[in-house]
Amino acid sequence: MNTTEHRNSLVATLLAVAAATTLSGCSSETDFRLNYVHMQVQEKTTGVALSDRQHTNLKEVLEAYFGTPDEPRVPQLDGVDLSGVLDIRKLKMAAGPVGRNEAGRKIGLYREHCGHCHGVTGDGAGPTAKFLNPYPRDFRRGLFKFKSTARTTPPTTEDLHRILDEGIPDTAMPSFRLLPENEREALVHYVRYLAIRGEVERLLIFEYVDTVDEGSLLFDPAAEGDSKAEQLDLVRGVTSEIAEKWLTAPDDVVPVPPRPDRPLAETIPRGRDLFFGAVANCVKCHGPTAIGDGVTDDFDEWSKELVDKQNPTAHEEWLRRYVANGALEPRPMKPRNLRTNAYRGGRRPIDLYWRIHNGIAGTPMPAASMKQADAPPEAKGLTADDVWCLIDYVRSLPYDSLSRAAAAHGPTNQRERQ
Ligand code: HEC
Ligand code: HEC
Repeated sequence: MNTTEHRNSLVATLLAVAAATTLSGCSSETDFRLNYVHMQVQEKTTGVALSDRQHTNLKEVLEAYFGTPDEPRVPQLDGVDLSGVLDIRKLKMAAGPVGRNEAGRKIGLYREHCGHCHGVTGDGAGPTAKFLNPYPRDFRRGLFKFKSTARTTPPTTEDLHRILDEGIPDTAMPSFRLLPENEREALVHYVRYLAIRGEVERLLIFEYVDTVDEGSLLFDPAAEGDSKAEQLDLVRGVTSEIAEKWLTAPDDVVPVPPRPDRPLAETIPRGRDLFFGAVANCVKCHGPTAIGDGVTDDFDEWSKELVDKQNPTAHEEWLRRYVANGALEPRPMKPRNLRTNAYRGGRRPIDLYWRIHNGIAGTPMPAASMKQADAPPEAKGLTADDVWCLIDYVRSLPYDSLSRAAAAHGPTNQRERQ
C-alpha cells in the first residue's frame, strides 16, 4: 500500500470505527483503556473535563493510528520510516491473547510475560503491580531509567535488550534471557510501541484540554477538506515528533572515556571528597553514610503529577479519584542505599559511568554537572576522571565500615571541600 492509499485507509478506518462505536456503543473486548488519570490531572490544573463523546473521539483516533491490543498498527507518517523501531511483524508476535498464529508461531508474548506487572496499556499497573516496590514501569511516559543515552533521550535497542537479559536486580523485574532472541526482539518493539502510543495519548489529551471548545471534537469525523487535513496533521505531527526521538536515540549515546590508570588508593579518597563536596553533592540525597537517608520526601516523575506537596489536605479528594481510576498510591522515592552492592542499572563500570554522568531519568538523581572541555582549570564542574573517582568510591562503599564516610567528613568540614 502506498502512502496516499494508506492515508485514505486511515481516514476510512477513523470513520468506520466512529460509525461502529456510535451504533453499537462498545468496542473490542480487550481495548486500550484511556489514560483517565492523566485527564484528571489536567482537569485539576485547567478545570476542563472531557465529555464521554470526547473520550470516544480520542479513543477512535488512537485506534486509527495504533490499532488495538489484539491488532496493533504502526502509524503511517509521511517521510518517516518507523520500521527500525516499530516492526509490525514483531508487534504482532508480542500482541494479542497468548497462543499461536496460523504459522504455528507463539503470539501474545507481552500478555504472557509482562502484562500482569506492566498492564495491557503499559501503565505499570497490572494486577501484581500494587504489591511491588518499586512499582513496574509505566511505559506511557516514554521515560526509562537505565540506559546509555542522555537523560531526556529514549533508550536504544541495546539498552532495552540489556534490561530484558539482565532484569533489574533488587526489584521484581525478572530476567528474560531464556526466551529465544526473536521473542525478546518482539518484546522490545512492543515496549517501544506502548511508550510511543502512551506519549502520543498524553499529548493529545493536552491538546484536547487546551484547544477544544466545550462539546466540540478534536477529530470531527464530519470534517472535510482543509479542516480534516489539519486534524490528521495534528496527530501525525505529534506522533512524528515522538517517534523521531526513538529513531535518533543511538546518536545520543553518551561516550565513556577510559578509566584513568590510577591506583584505587588515590581514586577512592578523591571520590569520597567529591561525594561530600558542593559540586557533586551526592551526600545531599544519599546521606553521610550513603545509606540513602538524605532527601527522602521527593517523588519520581510518575508520582509527581499525582501529589501536591504544598496542599496535601486539599489534594486528598483528587488523589482518591486518581486511585479510583487505576493510579497506584504514590510513594516517595528514596535515594539508593549505596552499601548493598546491588546496582539496578547494571554493575559494569560503564553502567555506573552512565548512571552518575547522565543521572537517572524520571527520578531525582541528577546528571553530573560536568566542566566544559575548554573550561579553565579553576572552573566549577566535574571532569570524566572525577566521575571515575566517584565510581571507585561508590564501588568501595559496600566493603567500607559504615562509620567511616561520615567520620571522615562530618557536616562541619564538608563545606571546605570542593
Ligand atoms: C514481576 C513483575 C514484572 C514483570 C513480570 C515484568 N516486569 Fe518489567 N519491570 C518491573 C519493575 C518493578 C520495574 C521497575 C524497576 C525500577 O524502577 O527500578 C520494571 C521495569 C521495566 C522496564 C524499564 C527499564 C528502565 O530502564 O526504565 C522495562 C523496559 C521492562 N520492565 C520491560 C519488561 C518486559 C518487556 C517484560 C515482559 C517480558 C517485563 N518487564 C516483565 C516488573 C516486572
Ligand atoms: C537529588 C538527589 C540525588 C543526588 C544529588 C544524587 N543521587 Fe544518586 N540516586 C538518587 C535516587 C533517588 C536514586 C534511585 C533512583 C532509582 O533507581 O529509581 C539514586 C541512585 C543512585 C545509584 C544507583 C544506580 C543503580 O544502578 O542502582 C548510584 C550509584 C548513585 N545514585 C550515585 C550517586 C552519586 C555518585 C551522586 C553524586 C554525584 C548521586 N548519586 C547524587 C538521588 C540522588
